[in-house]
Amino acid sequence: MTSPLDIIIMAAGRGTRMKSRLPKVLQRLAGRPLLHHVLDQAAQLAPRRVVVVTGHGATEVEAACADWTRAGAGFDLKTARQEPQLGTGHAVQQALPALAGDGTVLVLSGDVPLTRADTLAALLAAARPERLALLSVSLPDPTGYGRIVRGAGDAVQRIVEHKDASDAQRAITEIYSGIMAVPARWLAPWLARLSNGNAQGEYYLTDIVAQAVQEGVAVVAHRIQDALQVEGVNSPAQLAQLERAHQQRQAQALMEQGVRLLDPARFDLRQDARSGTRGELVCGQDVEIDVGCIFMGRVEVGAGARIGAYCHIANARIEAGAVIHPYTHIDGEAAGVQVGAGALVGPFARLRPGTQLGRDVHIGNFVEVKNAQLADGAKANHLAYLGDASVGARVNYGAGSITANYDGAHKHRTVIEADVHVGSNCVLVAPLTLGAGGTVAGGSTITKDTPAGALSVARGRQVSITNWKRPSKTPPQSQP
Ligand code: UD1
Ligand code: CA
Repeated sequence: MTSPLDIIIMAAGRGTRMKSRLPKVLQRLAGRPLLHHVLDQAAQLAPRRVVVVTGHGATEVEAACADWTRAGAGFDLKTARQEPQLGTGHAVQQALPALAGDGTVLVLSGDVPLTRADTLAALLAAARPERLALLSVSLPDPTGYGRIVRGAGDAVQRIVEHKDASDAQRAITEIYSGIMAVPARWLAPWLARLSNGNAQGEYYLTDIVAQAVQEGVAVVAHRIQDALQVEGVNSPAQLAQLERAHQQRQAQALMEQGVRLLDPARFDLRQDARSGTRGELVCGQDVEIDVGCIFMGRVEVGAGARIGAYCHIANARIEAGAVIHPYTHIDGEAAGVQVGAGALVGPFARLRPGTQLGRDVHIGNFVEVKNAQLADGAKANHLAYLGDASVGARVNYGAGSITANYDGAHKHRTVIEADVHVGSNCVLVAPLTLGAGGTVAGGSTITKDTPAGALSVARGRQVSITNWKRPSKTPPQSQP
């Protein structure tokens, strides 16, 4: 029988090098706060309880924990304040009262977002039933990290922090990742005995290793190869580096499912920071995505659909065989956007919330659509606006035409029935219904409903004056 798992996430540090007002653990990676990435890892291990240690920006960090709980965390999440911040050993000490003594404790850092759950599971296996297990990795440049000091037979002796290390110790390349697993009942007595007589005047969690060795407790270092998994975020440059690594991982996973990414290094899938909807891209067979596209929230792309270069697509469903040409902006926000099978959109099109395009709809360059439904085969190919509108099948909507849907106070709907032809540069003043099969002459401002099948013209009548003489300059008067 294995002991229950409890997790402590240290998240009280300042993160000075980010030079940001936001607490470090709330900086975003792929649109998601770092702390939420760490909570994701925790969730995969099905812990009994998780305690987040807060300090700097405690109220904001606690609010982020509450957001997580609201989203349905599936485990018991508590926070513990650490004030002032006297070091990592002191941080863990603040969390202990919230934990039962019979568990195995996994210590994580809120600023290390890319650790894999299977790595943590292996670390836990190494700690059970009665060992202290450290996650370690060898780095070409170990500067700044705690070093794993090994003795006879390679047995771990202690961890020495960089600032306290001798030159010989600084030459050690195996470093402590900041992640450990340990039976809970040992922690309280060990932490109580820590001293802060070191270079930083802090209570180091890492000093418990030497205590364990002294008491004859087995200490193991579970060494992994992939340094990325233990890399923390300390600066904007590191955050950007981890962002790219994370995006490459997501790109890799999609390619393994058969998605064709023209360049996995130029692919981004992010959480929608506005709603907190996770970044999720669900693709059918033979989907092709060109370079520089950014996906946000949940996006579905049907079989054989193609997404051109530099599109920004959020909260949308694109059905099979649709083609989104380059530089198209699609943002469904909460209402969503749906693009029907075989539709052609863009380049430079903008689809806003509540847009629903039927099969084979064409939306061309510089066309904006908002809260409008276009039935199968409808076309708006150039420079147009359709807002709060129902557009029937096969409607042709001319260049430069707009729905005037807003009277300054209220929005009104425009209904364009099937097979209507709207000429260029028309203003359709809502509320309005254009009867099926009718034609609206170019340049018309339509304010009244039009009958089915009629030609409607609403513009100044053309007048031509024959033999019209343009004014000419009168020659200057000659002086007498
Ligand atoms: C720590 C380890 C070091 C390891 C490195 C890996 C110690 C003493 N050292 O060093 O061996 O190689 O991580 O990245 O543990 N925190 C608190 N309260 C505090 C201090 C820190 O909550 O009082 C939190 C920080 O917010 C951060 C984590 O603990 O999430 C690590 O703290 P940090 O100051 O970054 O430790 P390092 O000096 O990097
Ligand atoms: Ca650190």
